[in-house]
Amino acid sequence: MDIVQKEQKKQVIFSGMQPTGFLTLGNYIGALKNWIGLQDQYHCLYCIVDLHSLTVRQDPANLRKRSREVLMQYIAAGLDPEKNIIFYQSHVPAHSELSWILSCFTYMGELNRMTQFKEKAQKNESNVNAGLFTYPVLMAADILLYQTDLVPVGEDQKQHLEIARDIATRFNNIYGDVFTIPEGYIPKVGARIMSLQDPTKKMSKSDENENGYIRILDEPNRIMNKIKRAVTDSKGQICYSDEQPGIKNLLDIYCSLREESVESAVDHFQSKGYGDLKKEVGETIVEALRPIQEKFQELEKNKDYIDQIIKDNGDKANALAQRTLRKVQKKVGFPPRV
Ligand code: TYM
Repeated sequence: MDIVQKEQKKQVIFSGMQPTGFLTLGNYIGALKNWIGLQDQYHCLYCIVDLHSLTVRQDPANLRKRSREVLMQYIAAGLDPEKNIIFYQSHVPAHSELSWILSCFTYMGELNRMTQFKEKAQKNESNVNAGLFTYPVLMAADILLYQTDLVPVGEDQKQHLEIARDIATRFNNIYGDVFTIPEGYIPKVGARIMSLQDPTKKMSKSDENENGYIRILDEPNRIMNKIKRAVTDSKGQICYSDEQPGIKNLLDIYCSLREESVESAVDHFQSKGYGDLKKEVGETIVEALRPIQEKFQELEKNKDYIDQIIKDNGDKANALAQRTLRKVQKKVGFPPRV
């Protein structure tokens, strides 16, 4: 088998993040960190899903800035832009085009069941727009456009992934084998990092309370302070249990960043107090994020390099996306281009 054939046999990975705010430790542990280890084995596409961000009102200048920052954080965290296709969703019109077609193969009832829609609709009562409702269809288009085999995401995206699979299967049943049916790739530990202020809620970049989340770009002092303030309990014992969600969350963070088993961490903290746990968790986070922050600062100074990545990777993604889109357009009966 020659190199080209070998390359072609690599499985495809697709994932993305919304540039709606600062990336959090949840985004890093649940998704980004896991992407780094996949870049040699797979053909990987990592998107900055700016179209999805519009489902909530955005300040245009801010959205542009955040989008570029997300792209730089991908690279700073270790994604090689030569090995991975890192691009903006809005630079590849095929996402919107396929999304429309797929929306005609998605039922209202399916979308109505989406927990994220219900939660977001409740949170943004004054702006329950149609985009918020059809959000999972666009996400399905993102994934299916590239004939994706695996989608590395945190646990909160499971339901969206399931609907993408359902839409793809439905479409294939009508038109033949058009789409690859994607599988989720969800980490065993750290798939759901919780808010530091309310450990029964997911850590989220849209949390109003800044102490609930840690940003990838937070300075060390800030990280230590936020961890110090993290809500725990009054039991005083360090166990990995659902009855102690605050402690469990800190252990999850510690274990996934150190790639250590829960058993060994619980053993390590057996005769220690919450203060020690918080100190060590804080230090672990600071050390894990330090190289990313340093690389980010370097990248910030290198405007031309980043611009070139945006252009080259956008072109690559467009070329790949067109292949699937053309196939779909032909299957559904759109007239050929002459
Ligand atoms: P988003 O931007 O909310 O989150 C990006 C990724 O981070 C994961 N994540 C978490 N993991 C663990 N603990 C947390 N607290 C936490 N918060 C976020 C998410 O699971 C996700 O993997 N709809 C997606 C973006 C998207 C997408 C796609 C993803 C659009 N199209 C296609 C995969 C494939 C979203 O809003 O992610």
